[in-house]
Amino acid sequence: MVPGRTLLSVLALATAAFASPIVIDESHVKVTLARHNIQQKSGYNVLEHDRARLATFKAKGAAKASVAERAASAAATNSVTYYSLAVGVGSPATTYDLIVDTGSSNTWVGASTQYKATRTSTDTRDKVAVSYGSGSMSGTEYTDTVTLGTGLTITKQSIGVASKTSGFEGVDGIVGIGPTDLTEDTVSGVTEVPTVTDNLYTQGTISEKVVGIYFQPPQGTSEAQINGELTFGGVDTTKTTSAITYTPLTTTEPASYYWGINQSITMGGTTIMATTAGIVDTGTTLLYLPEGTYNSYVSATGATLDENTGLLTVASESDLQSLYFTIGGTEYELTANAQIWPRDLNTLIGGTANKIYLVVASTGEAAGSGLDFINGYVFLERFYSVFDSTNNQVGFATTSYTDATSN
Ligand SMILES: *[C@@H]1O[C@H](CO)[C@@H](O)[C@H](O)[C@H]1NC(C)=O
Repeated sequence: MVPGRTLLSVLALATAAFASPIVIDESHVKVTLARHNIQQKSGYNVLEHDRARLATFKAKGAAKASVAERAASAAATNSVTYYSLAVGVGSPATTYDLIVDTGSSNTWVGASTQYKATRTSTDTRDKVAVSYGSGSMSGTEYTDTVTLGTGLTITKQSIGVASKTSGFEGVDGIVGIGPTDLTEDTVSGVTEVPTVTDNLYTQGTISEKVVGIYFQPPQGTSEAQINGELTFGGVDTTKTTSAITYTPLTTTEPASYYWGINQSITMGGTTIMATTAGIVDTGTTLLYLPEGTYNSYVSATGATLDENTGLLTVASESDLQSLYFTIGGTEYELTANAQIWPRDLNTLIGGTANKIYLVVASTGEAAGSGLDFINGYVFLERFYSVFDSTNNQVGFATTSYTDATSN
């Protein structure tokens, strides 16, 4: 740790010189993440889950008042993939396995393992209810001591204790690290609920409201694998292979309610998506693009729709070429290999072992919706991402997996 400090400081200075402000906090704390791969009962579940989530994102923007009703009509379908971390609650602590979600901001437990009140638990008697498109929770809000990973402790964190949930089988709840505004209207009698990031900052544990996220593509077929890391308060530069470049949060609604950014995409020198607003989301599996962009991609690759999975398929990897994302003036290359669903996991989504399925899907709407794309796991497993609510920006950097031919 100590020899690394000099290097971190040098990097911080070097980056600050040519990009927007970046603070690499020496007191940042790393928490290990596990990737879970869940067998789907039939094909299409990946798309159904992601699209239900997308519909909820859009509904929230369109009619804030009726969020709960609209979201409740969406199918509750478990995700094929999620990342989780161990979170201790109470003293002595009970450990819960919670999904990391940048698209929501409440933290709650109780979907599988029952909440166990201890001397640090306070029942606020306020009601909590949150809808996710892919599920929902309702229950009572408590405050309690929360420990993230092995040693990052927050006192009096507001947490939901679920009495009713849907769509969260096999997991205990969520750590929501989206913008704090997303907690509005989720807890009775409270305007906003401070997130874990807010409290780490308020309690002096971190000096910037920044979360760095490192995911890597799945390896092999195991159901759970430790292959990610969350860093509160800074960036873990041991995981990045370039400087982090930042882009301001978009002002376009409804993308602006989430971690929304402006982005354009080219392929073979042709712009297939002009600059438009969308979001970066750790609760979405695939890469969603507006209909016109998706159609251009289909034409250029000759991909066809596979009946069993609902995903595009090509005969050979050589049918694909890199997609170039321009975000905040920096180009990020999503390689041909990165556009392929992890082949080891083909059967999880109802596919055939040796086929090539693609991770590019359509939002089902033309560009101009205000939320035209979602950069899900398949993007975040190739680029380190930084969610910075102190400076209202999102950053990306390459990692050793950016160009990996892991699929
Ligand atoms: C993003 O794009 C929209 C139009 O698509 C534009 O109005 C806005 O100024 C851009 N930049 C930001 C930071 O929102």
